[in-house]
Amino acid sequence: MPRMPDARTPCPGAGTSAFHLRHGEVWCEAVPLRELARRFGTPLYVYSQAALAERFAVLRAAFGADAQICYAVKANPNLTLLRRLHALGTGFDLVSGGELRRLQAAGLPTARAVFAGVAKQAWEIEAAVAAGILFFVVETPAELPLLAGAAAAARRRVRVALRLNPGVAAGGHAYIRTASTDTKFGVDLGAAGAVVEAIAREPWLELCGYHVHLGSQVREVAPYAEALERVLAFVDAAPVRRDGVTCYDLGGGFGIAYGTGAPLDVHAVAAALRPALAARGWSPVLEPGRYLIGDAGVLLTEVLGEKQQPRTTFVLVDAAMNDLLRPALYQAEHPIVPVVADPAPPRPVDVVGPVCETGDFLARGRMLPPCRRGDLLAVLGAGAYGASMASTYNSRRRPAEVLVDGERVALVRRRETFAELFADEIDLHED
Ligand SMILES: Cc1ncc(COP(=O)(O)O)c(C=O)c1O
Repeated sequence: MPRMPDARTPCPGAGTSAFHLRHGEVWCEAVPLRELARRFGTPLYVYSQAALAERFAVLRAAFGADAQICYAVKANPNLTLLRRLHALGTGFDLVSGGELRRLQAAGLPTARAVFAGVAKQAWEIEAAVAAGILFFVVETPAELPLLAGAAAAARRRVRVALRLNPGVAAGGHAYIRTASTDTKFGVDLGAAGAVVEAIAREPWLELCGYHVHLGSQVREVAPYAEALERVLAFVDAAPVRRDGVTCYDLGGGFGIAYGTGAPLDVHAVAAALRPALAARGWSPVLEPGRYLIGDAGVLLTEVLGEKQQPRTTFVLVDAAMNDLLRPALYQAEHPIVPVVADPAPPRPVDVVGPVCETGDFLARGRMLPPCRRGDLLAVLGAGAYGASMASTYNSRRRPAEVLVDGERVALVRRRETFAELFADEIDLHED
């Protein structure tokens, strides 16, 4: 039989051509998702190397060669992905000593890592000082004496970027807004002058820049511009606020489409910020998480059946809130598509998992064709804050993860065993 032409069509909602349709099925690069489900089982996270590379190239082109692009490890900390991102040219944004340990376990350099976090333990500070990271992001004044002490003990000068809270409300859900007044993040502009002076008094600390992270899933340019404007007004109020400053860390938060509207126009953000930064000789630092890995991953899940209640049709699947928490936690909307296209007319359904919580849903009121047990669905845009937030709630094993690179497929995290689920428990055998 003659081979059918290899026609690719876009997969609606995918946000990247790495996930596309061929012969009526969803593929990741040169591999059909159906084959991955058969080989590795479900639920399964599937990542695309090409999508990662494509997004990194967009950021590099927008922000230029002098930008430090520090991948936010929290979005997806898989060791292989960290190595692949490093190979593309990223540094790293860390928020815990555990993330630092991950970098070290992956054998990756720490010299281009930045370490943020509203409350750091002493051992985390000491470990990061010893590792010689690019800079600390200080956002809690009480951290300064600890940091200064650790730097003095190690006899190392430590660079500090002060995280400011500019009072700009931006981002998706309220839980992912971090720069509005009275969140726990950053130092309020009214209090920040005294913190700059305190840094300047410490012989082992040097102020190298300012940091603002607006929140996550920001899709407009204006908040980035407004935040920088407020930071510059703060900086211009006293020379000590400018001394030694060489960078502006605009954080991450670059929004992706999740099937509706447009992603953040990162070129427009760069165009709005770069002239002002260049005029001061400051270079940009970026901390993208979702923008790099969100669209680069999907969660594959198998249908276990359908269930009709008086007003709602439920599609029951084998992935649940423990595998992908975002819908339950943030009412996040992830596009969901059948892996094998079905021409039957779609109807509104709730896609839910087996976990014993009414909040256990992957989508509500979503248009999907009739689903039979054994059918596969792909939850799109699931690469960021999917696997990294997964838990073993209901004694469920977390999903396996695979990375696709052209025709090559690599298991980058195996599904844990049931024995591993309770391996750390100490059973007292009390009868
Ligand atoms: C300080 C900081 N930087 C970067 C990020 C990454 O955000 P996103 O994945 O939305 O780019 C976060 C997310 O919580 C953050 O808190």
